[in-house]
Amino acid sequence: MTFDLGFEGKAAVVTGAGAGIGQAIAVALAGAGVRVGLVDIDLQRAEVTRELAERAGGTATSLAADVMDTAALTEAVTAAHRSFGRLDILVNNAGGVRARRFLEQSERSWRRHIDINLVSMLAATSAAAPLIASSGGGSILNVTSIEGRRAAPMYAVYAACKAAMISFTHTMAVELAEHGIRVNALAPDHTATAGNRGILTGPVDPEALPPRPPDRAAAVRRYVPLGREGAAAECADAAMYLCSDRAGYVTGVTLNVDGGTAAAGGWVRSGAGWTLYPDAAPLAQ
Ligand SMILES: NC(=O)c1ccc[n+]([C@@H]2O[C@H](COP(=O)([O-])OP(=O)(O)OC[C@H]3O[C@@H](n4cnc5c(N)ncnc54)[C@H](O)[C@@H]3O)[C@@H](O)[C@H]2O)c1
Repeated sequence: MTFDLGFEGKAAVVTGAGAGIGQAIAVALAGAGVRVGLVDIDLQRAEVTRELAERAGGTATSLAADVMDTAALTEAVTAAHRSFGRLDILVNNAGGVRARRFLEQSERSWRRHIDINLVSMLAATSAAAPLIASSGGGSILNVTSIEGRRAAPMYAVYAACKAAMISFTHTMAVELAEHGIRVNALAPDHTATAGNRGILTGPVDPEALPPRPPDRAAAVRRYVPLGREGAAAECADAAMYLCSDRAGYVTGVTLNVDGGTAAAGGWVRSGAGWTLYPDAAPLAQ
């Protein structure tokens, strides 16, 4: 028996589809038969994703829009629906962050964090949900972060937005249920993407991301139970399930794609064991 995800003939919009997790999700959906609207602020990046989607045997359309511009984002969602004649799936993936202590962060910076991470999700959901409902129901996926589930020093406003995305996911799962729309979230931790490597503009080949500095790579091995950072394709695998008919009775869920960091809750590898005190002498065993 094949494991049919039921995607053939469906249509989706993915925001921030020009690189990283959004690109991986968009290409995976396209490869499974979904026509995908690729929303990105960087048209060149969206075009690279379109080529990858076509190479995967799929169909995709690039839609240039800054998700912080709610009118442009709404128009991009509407254009995808117009072009495909339906809309079944929305992936709210675009987001961004700059590291800074909260007391050193300007109001302009708080507001930009809120606009890109939170308001964009509200605007795209508001535009897309009626179109998904009129297409017979479907699925919305919000890409939040493990930072929305724990303290995040240097990332306070980003983490607050990601926590709000999880709350919004719960409420939308309830409010949109009567329209046949399931609403779920993904919570990645460190994932190898262009943005995660500090590459914020221009086309990027995911195969050619620069490696992490050795001290960072060693730290990831210590604090991620699975011993490595995640791949964007692993987020896409989880997204494919949540967006598919196979998750037909799953709504309001936030799925961690984090190698176990949330479960570890601060425990790190130390020698052959584990410790909460990485700088202290190991406990006698
Ligand atoms: N990579 C990680 O380690 C990680 C961990 C947890 C959560 N996340 C979340 O996953 C999502 C994607 O992250 P990523 O690492 O794949 O990002 P990325 O920086 O690699 O790619 C983001 C894409 O979004 C586009 N984009 C940026 N600003 C935009 C805007 N204003 N309007 C439209 N498009 C815009 C960029 O051009 C790019 O193509 C984000 O919401 C991020 O917070 C990432």
